[in-house]
Amino acid sequence: MSERVYIFDTTLRDGEQSPGVSLNVNEKLQIARQLARLRVDVIEAGFPYTSPGDFKAVQAVAREVRGVTVAGLARSNFADIDAAWNALKEAEQPRIHVFIATSDIHLKYKLRKDREQVLEAAVAAVKHAKKYTSDVEFSAEDASRSDLDYLCRVLAAVIAAGATVVNIPDTVGYATPAEFGNFIRAIREKTPGIEKVVLSVHCHDDLGLAVANSLSAVLNGATQVEGTINGIGERAGNAALEEVIMALHTRRDIYGKTVGVVTEEIYRTSRLVSTLTGMPVQYNKAVVGKNAFAHESGIHQDGVLKERTTYEIMNPTMVGIPVSSLVLGKHSGRHAFRQRLIELGYDLSEEELNKAFIRFKELADRKKTITDEDLQAIVEGEIRQTPPTFELEYMHILSGTTVVPSATVGLVTGGEVIEEAACGDGPVDAIYRAVDKITGIRVTLVSYALDAVTGGKDALGSVTVKVQDERGKIFTGRDISTDVLEASARAYIDAINKIFHEMNGPSMQNRG
Ligand code: KIV
Ligand code: ZN
Repeated sequence: MSERVYIFDTTLRDGEQSPGVSLNVNEKLQIARQLARLRVDVIEAGFPYTSPGDFKAVQAVAREVRGVTVAGLARSNFADIDAAWNALKEAEQPRIHVFIATSDIHLKYKLRKDREQVLEAAVAAVKHAKKYTSDVEFSAEDASRSDLDYLCRVLAAVIAAGATVVNIPDTVGYATPAEFGNFIRAIREKTPGIEKVVLSVHCHDDLGLAVANSLSAVLNGATQVEGTINGIGERAGNAALEEVIMALHTRRDIYGKTVGVVTEEIYRTSRLVSTLTGMPVQYNKAVVGKNAFAHESGIHQDGVLKERTTYEIMNPTMVGIPVSSLVLGKHSGRHAFRQRLIELGYDLSEEELNKAFIRFKELADRKKTITDEDLQAIVEGEIRQTPPTFELEYMHILSGTTVVPSATVGLVTGGEVIEEAACGDGPVDAIYRAVDKITGIRVTLVSYALDAVTGGKDALGSVTVKVQDERGKIFTGRDISTDVLEASARAYIDAINKIFHEMNGPSMQNRG
């Protein structure tokens, strides 16, 4: 039996540090539940000291999500560690993750500490965290640019102090695969006590090498890989976990390791993270991109039809990509709808199912054939849990090449319909201006993206918007419809509802 590599997911912590991404507690919980279904070994749910929102999210995940280790990040000081523990204490398997930088460049310019002071702080942090829980991870930030002998001394000291996992981050994505592999091997050889702990790596993607560096580390003795779904994260992001997992799985002959992940949940996890963060997955992205299993050339298509393995090294069903078949139509009933969702791996509550079924019926009236991708888009749209302060009741748009675009919009709030009209640079702008008049809050539209869920003239349009409120905080809204203007309106209203929910609670009524 080959050795296990542990998968540590930091989508909710390092991933959420992606520019323009901000997840609320409900969204983080949804992702954490899905990560548990994916069966990663560790979910890093956040950095509790940094904000009340992060604290609540870590607490909510620790309380609810079972069968997985839940980690919270802390700098090497007691206040951070105490906050991490307070957020984590109800977890089934809590892990406190402490870190401090060990490279000379960070010591000199950022920490303004010498090597001995950093070593002492690291040891004190691990000892303090150990008072709360047996599972303590220590990360040497910027390890790949640290002096090897000093780094090994710090690692040996934190292991002696009780660390159960030591993590070697390539914080700035500077390492190259052979170099990083040698570095990990040297750490294994030079650090007393290393054989007793999990040796982890955490690679960033500034040179596009995060996955290659992580895999090289595995070949040289790393037993845990940290990363994020879709590779999201600071700057160019982190190692894409779906790629690491499928490389370990597909090339078991090279790596000789196993992972505990349910690979069939990968695609669903990728979709959910993309939907909730509003970060699209590039079409040619390995493993989960729209084109990852599409064969365009006639020669390839012919080969795949004769024998799939001629041009496919992984079976798309292994990562949970739905077979794009025509499944349901306007005469399909609730039972068939539920059954197909179960087959697609969605386990919805009665309330979620009801909402999704209503959207399905609306869609089936407009679109002849409903594919698995359409169903996924509906469900991912309906499982958002932000209670709406405003809902779209109706809208009328006037637009054309020779008229000033205008929109009349009716929104329901507090049981009342409020109507406003506005002109704009285009129909979407006119709708958003009318909505702004009703909600009375000032936001800036940061980005707007329109994508087709499937092909064909009656394809569902999926709109994702990011808006910034007056405090500078970004909120993401998304919706789908065969009518792209309707999807545009609903996506914007979705983002506004999230602002109201966070600022005032769900019962806040119209301020306009
Ligand atoms: O990139 C990094 O160094 C980190 C540590 C906090 C683990 O994210
Ligand atoms: Zn990082």
